[in-house]
Amino acid sequence: MASFLSEILYNVDKKKVTELSYSIENIEDKNKDFNEVNVESELKIITELELNQLLKKADLDKGKTFVNKNCASCHDLNMPIKNKIGPSLATILDRKIGNLSDYKYSKTLLNIDKKWNIVNLYYFLEKPKEWAPGTKMSYRGISDSQKLLNTIKYLRENSISNEN
Ligand code: HEC
Repeated sequence: MASFLSEILYNVDKKKVTELSYSIENIEDKNKDFNEVNVESELKIITELELNQLLKKADLDKGKTFVNKNCASCHDLNMPIKNKIGPSLATILDRKIGNLSDYKYSKTLLNIDKKWNIVNLYYFLEKPKEWAPGTKMSYRGISDSQKLLNTIKYLRENSISNEN
């Protein structure tokens, strides 16, 4: 009887051990997926929804100061539309890329059939030459993500107020 009981207990334990190691494997599998997701987020795959959330916390005034200091030498930001070395950014939000008829864009921008939504602005302004190889915008990009968000927030607000 004793050995019968211990056999049952042994079997139960064995089953538990098997279940346990199975679930550990599962956890490891989940970690594997998680790591893969992390690799992707290092490439900064960002959705419009996520970006909108981040923009809520971005600083509009700092964005304005940053743009005046870093972009305004090449880009006008006020109405009516005037171009400088670079095209006007007064109405940039949701404008088709390379769309101002009296500005001479690079072939690169002319060939991108998208509009300047916040996601495309994010990628272009982070690394202009990587997102749009061949662009004639010589600006090297905004590596500080908070400054990048502040800039996009200001460009968006400025554009909305110019179009109203
Ligand atoms: C040294 C001048 C220079 C600076 C500084 C500069 N840009 Fe540009 N930008 C350009 C030029 C030139 C183009 C046209 C690029 C092309 O045709 O490939 C351009 C294009 C753009 C476009 C595309 C506009 C369109 O009509 O499709 C955006 C958006 C833009 N710049 C934003 C910015 C912002 C924001 C900054 C500051 C953080 C900035 N740029 C700084 C010269 C500049």
